[in-house]
Amino acid sequence: MKNIVLIGFMGSGKTVISKVLSKKLKRDIVDIDVLIEKKTKMKIKNIFKKFGEEYFRDLEEKITAKVSKKKNIIISTGGGIIKRENNIKNLKKNGIIIYLKNTFKTSCERLKGKKNRPLFNEKNLKATKKLFLQRLKLYKNAADIIIKTDNKSIKQVSEEIIEKIKYL
Ligand code: S3P
Repeated sequence: MKNIVLIGFMGSGKTVISKVLSKKLKRDIVDIDVLIEKKTKMKIKNIFKKFGEEYFRDLEEKITAKVSKKKNIIISTGGGIIKRENNIKNLKKNGIIIYLKNTFKTSCERLKGKKNRPLFNEKNLKATKKLFLQRLKLYKNAADIIIKTDNKSIKQVSEEIIEKIKYL
């Protein structure tokens, strides 16, 4: 069976939805950010601080290429996965890409007070919104399926995904 790959902006619910899908569909889950943190023994925030974004993107690309070879798993990605075309190319080989789409307002509400995302700056929401708008097209182009998540519960979103992938 094809992998189910979740993409979307920070705060779109990729991590939590991937956990629910993993339980409901009895499939293993791989979270690319978690793998990066395990491999480097560092928090993502600190990788960005110490080595910069490009270093993080290189790690992300390497790990994505490896994970993409697996089958029948749920893959949760980081919000910037769409920055490199190669990631999407690899993930599509064995996977269906599901874009969890929400408004910028919803991301802000979900991430309120969380300080672990180097590219989500509550003190400079203008820059973060710019990033959000720049990425919209990239998520849309990469997606096989788009699921809108605003004002929906975790249960509703996961059930919607399960219903959609039934017919693939
Ligand atoms: C990033 C999103 C983060 C993480 C890193 C970069 C991004 O993951 O990969 O901070 O560029 O959008 P989440 O989308 O899980 O927050």
